[in-house]
Amino acid sequence: MHQKRVLSGVQPTGCLHIGNWLGAIRNWVELQEEHETFVCVVDLHAITTPHDPKTLAKETNSTAALYLACGMNPEKSSIFIQSQIPAHSELCWILNCLTPLNWMERMIQFKEKSIKQGDNVSIGLLDYPVLMAADILLYDADLVPVGEDQKQHLELARDIAQQRINARFSTKENNILKVPKPLIIKEGAKVMSLTDGTNKMSKSDSNEFSRIALLDPPDLITKKIKRAKTDSEIGLEFNNPKRPEASNLLSIYSILSGKAPQIVSEECADMGWGKFKPLLSEVLVSALEPIQIKYKELIQDQTELDKILEKGRLRADEISRKTLNRVKESIGFLNRDY
Ligand code: TYM
Repeated sequence: MHQKRVLSGVQPTGCLHIGNWLGAIRNWVELQEEHETFVCVVDLHAITTPHDPKTLAKETNSTAALYLACGMNPEKSSIFIQSQIPAHSELCWILNCLTPLNWMERMIQFKEKSIKQGDNVSIGLLDYPVLMAADILLYDADLVPVGEDQKQHLELARDIAQQRINARFSTKENNILKVPKPLIIKEGAKVMSLTDGTNKMSKSDSNEFSRIALLDPPDLITKKIKRAKTDSEIGLEFNNPKRPEASNLLSIYSILSGKAPQIVSEECADMGWGKFKPLLSEVLVSALEPIQIKYKELIQDQTELDKILEKGRLRADEISRKTLNRVKESIGFLNRDY
């Protein structure tokens, strides 16, 4: 029987943080054991907001190395760079022509990001979710493991596949696109900012102290946790809407210590912040240590990294071309033998 397929990706903008890891990458690592897994570094998405051409390639390379350092196994998964697979841009164009503009204007992330950009909003930013749909649909992905913030984009990818392609161009015998399912694992799906527990942790936050980057050294982690926003209550608890910071930091502690929420609730019920923060720093430092050690090894062996990315590229190219040709044929383009 065919293994189910998984596809996901992260943007190479700034350093990846624990939200990206706990909400997405950590789940890919488990899924690759039982699924045919494709993960890409989505550098085409990274240019939808102003970017620095001097650092993009370096950050793309370092994001790929981080995937591996977090446990992605190139023997089990195809790891590749999105811009190196032409089918992504090509399918995106086709989907653009079939997707209603008003579906795009509803996208929450577009609204949020475009407010920040002021007059400088690119068409690419509006189109971001269609490119994401192309990424997913090209690989006939069954499952797309992402954090909570990507739910709406996945619903859009499903609607495009179902309503705009399959319903209009499929024949009875021949369904064109697989309709993917989101996989949002509740635990870790929305890690919040360290400086405001009502906002999600984000790479684009101008305050570096709002997030823990995967490559932050131990003393910086300790400093960031020391400065993290707290309240004046004693004892930590989950799910008190008046105490979003307590709930967020306790969740991070629970996931990284491997202790169930009920256990950490009891452990920290009467604990003051002054006692809790060093505990949290300690679990963060020891959870990130193996990733940082592995990353340092990988980034020094560029030949090996290039080999892994080339293998991923070849496999991704093969699969994506087949889907693209299927779509092109079904919507009526003049066919040629490939
Ligand atoms: P990006 O780079 O913004 O986020 C990458 C992944 O990290 C998750 N994430 C979080 N999870 C929990 N807490 C947070 N604070 C947090 N911040 C980010 C995101 O949900 C995401 O899973 N648009 C995608 C990239 C993409 C993609 C795709 C994903 C492009 N094409 C195809 C899946 C399939 C994004 O959010 O990137």
